[in-house]
Amino acid sequence: MSKETVVSGIRSTGNLHLGNYFGAIKNFIKMQHEYNCYFFIADYHSLTTHPNPADLHATVKQVLVEYLACGIDPDACTIYIQSDLPETAELFLLLGMNAYVGELERSTTFKEKVRKHPDNVNAGLLTYPVLMAADILIHRASKVPVGKDQEQHLEFTRTFGNRFNRMYKHDLFPEAVAFNYGTSLVKIPGLDGGGKMGKSEGEGNAVFLSDSPEVIRKKVMRAVSDSGPTIENQPKPEAIQNLFTLMEVVSSKETLLHFEDLYNTMKIRYGDMKKQLAEDMILFTAPLREKILALSADDKYIHKVASQGAEKARESASKTISEARKLIGFRSF
Ligand code: TRP
Repeated sequence: MSKETVVSGIRSTGNLHLGNYFGAIKNFIKMQHEYNCYFFIADYHSLTTHPNPADLHATVKQVLVEYLACGIDPDACTIYIQSDLPETAELFLLLGMNAYVGELERSTTFKEKVRKHPDNVNAGLLTYPVLMAADILIHRASKVPVGKDQEQHLEFTRTFGNRFNRMYKHDLFPEAVAFNYGTSLVKIPGLDGGGKMGKSEGEGNAVFLSDSPEVIRKKVMRAVSDSGPTIENQPKPEAIQNLFTLMEVVSSKETLLHFEDLYNTMKIRYGDMKKQLAEDMILFTAPLREKILALSADDKYIHKVASQGAEKARESASKTISEARKLIGFRSF
């Protein structure tokens, strides 16, 4: 039996942090061996916020380098840059003819953007779901590993695909569904005592894979804690639980149990715990950081990966586009 096709877009926002690593990336690394995977860096999408050309180029390269450093294998999957596959843009145009302004205006992501950035309501924002549908349908994927926040976009994808199928009385596009691969993932908290690790949660909240040991030490030592437990076996406040959760993913079992025990017996000193946590994070990220540095300096290899990825993506995309063109009535004379 042939493998099911998976498509996922990666935001081109630069440095990855530990939360990304233990989330999407770990899943992608397993998935690439089980499915026919297309992963792409969504640089067309990023134009809605008008990045400057040098920044755009640098962040796309950084994201590609970091995914490769983490273990995305260009021979096991197809990893490419979205703008290297203009077939996506053509399918976007074709699908756009049957995407209605009214329905696009009802998208919650669009409404939020309008509210937050009323001075930049460009057409690309409105048609963002059409471009995302094109990304998925260009490879006729049936599975898309995205979270809840993208569910409405997937619904648009199904709507546009089905509409095309009905209009041209053909089953060109399958229905893509959200893919909950590895639901038992640990949610990685940030260092600010609050919610999950995130780039936009403020300076110092996230530990990036490319952070140097000195930066990691500084960030971890500044992590939010408190003055310590006042009774034995006390339930942990959020900020403290966060430190333990981080320790769980980067430290050994013995280390974790050691600090659990100190906590439960009220002998814990958070300074010591953070020192240990920082050293374990440094050990954990060191091989990734080394690979990131080596790959960043190897432009020839990065060029090869990107062009091979584009070529592999084109094999599947050109079939879809020529089918779509034929169905529409664009036929050669
Ligand atoms: N919208 C997705 C995000 O914000 C990125 C994305 C673009 C995507 N095209 C896609 C994800 C296609 C899955 C499939 O994260």
